[in-house]
Amino acid sequence: MESKLQHIHNEALAQIETASNISALEAVRIGTLGRSGSISALSQSMKNVPKADRPRFGKLLNELREAVSSALEKRATALNAEADQALLSNLDVTLPGTQPCIGAIHPLTRLLNRAVQIFHRMGFALAEGPDIETEWHCFDALNTPADHPARNEQDTFYLPDGRLLRTHTSTIQTRVMESQSPPLRVIGPGAAYRRDEVDATHLAQFNQLEGLYVAADVSLADLKGTLSFFFPELFGPGTEIRFRPHFFPFTEPSYEIDIRTEALGDQWMELAGCGMVDPAVFEAINARRGDRAYDPDLVSGFAFGFGLDRLAMNLIGIPDIRMLAENDIRFLSQFC
Ligand code: DAH
Repeated sequence: MESKLQHIHNEALAQIETASNISALEAVRIGTLGRSGSISALSQSMKNVPKADRPRFGKLLNELREAVSSALEKRATALNAEADQALLSNLDVTLPGTQPCIGAIHPLTRLLNRAVQIFHRMGFALAEGPDIETEWHCFDALNTPADHPARNEQDTFYLPDGRLLRTHTSTIQTRVMESQSPPLRVIGPGAAYRRDEVDATHLAQFNQLEGLYVAADVSLADLKGTLSFFFPELFGPGTEIRFRPHFFPFTEPSYEIDIRTEALGDQWMELAGCGMVDPAVFEAINARRGDRAYDPDLVSGFAFGFGLDRLAMNLIGIPDIRMLAENDIRFLSQFC
């Protein structure tokens, strides 16, 4: 009997030692300590052992069970450690981690922020005005006669009370001059609205950036100098800029600005309107204020305005302007 115990003991330890993984080890446990395992079978045969030998046999059986259990446990710990080691050996802790996307600034806002920062450095303060405007602030004050096409009901969103959604951010000029006296230098970003058919290059709501500088002796040279500094700051040093004579009711003389830069595909792109504030605008403001703060004989000014959406569209190279307004996460997540 004792030699049988010894045999089972040796055999079990040898199997445990050679088990090469956790499932092989589990098979050894079942084959020894399991319900029909070799050690359990020995316990069954206890009843055949002479009564006098039973205590000694029982003690040896317990010792065998404990020895096998603890050998199984030790080997399991070793095998688990080996498996961990194998996993770790494939792990390159120097690889960069997965960057979590915590959101990002919309490309339009990013462009706007950069533009505003450049004007801040030149001493322009931020200004704003309401999206819902009076006809006076949007047109009359800006020397735009009642029969001007921009005022057409087909082109503009009118409210039942006669107010309208501003068709340009030039209303910010009116608002600022109404409430502040010169000298002043402001930059006014905001939404503008037109009854445009929405397609790949048009939105009925878009974004503009307006600028206004009024003081004694502001000249066309100041306007050209300011914008000739601004655009290369925004698009890079190789940026070319040209001023083309144009007409706007609220500036005289007026220009359109084209720029050519690598960032926009090296082609001339019509970008902005600008000019010297028309004395008629100053007089409309004076009449409203009831003073002569904007006496055209004492102050002069320049103004400019341009759209941001088409610019952003060209800068980031997207085929459809609507992508800027749809807020589709598949489009926006590339800017994370
Ligand atoms: N408001 C004009 C537009 O929406 C752009 C513009 C032209 C603004 C000339 C100005 C300016 O301030 O002086 O087309």
